Amino acid sequence: MKRIFEHPILKRKSTKVIKFYFEGRELQALEGETIASALIANGIDIFGETERGKPRGFFCAIGKCSSCLMIVNGEPNVRVCITPVMEGMKVQRQFGRSEIVW
Ligand code: FES
Repeated sequence: MKRIFEHPILKRKSTKVIKFYFEGRELQALEGETIASALIANGIDIFGETERGKPRGFFCAIGKCSSCLMIVNGEPNVRVCITPVMEGMKVQRQFGRSEIVW
């Protein structure tokens, strides 16, 4: 698991563990963290593919690009770097730009 448990400056906001699903796999997250943080903590850093078939992860991590778009509870184009993970949430990779609606 890729997670920082103790940090010299930043304090953890919550220690409550919740469950969410990534492409059918049950994973754990900490309440209040973003979907991107929860995925990376679980070793998942490929969030989709470009239209050329290249893997996409997250880039800016502040909601300003579109590198982290994923499908969340059936809704495409969700910026997972700024969206809090919720109990029972269903997350899946988004491929290409065909599903992007601006
Ligand atoms: S990584 Fe840039 S919007 Fe999420």
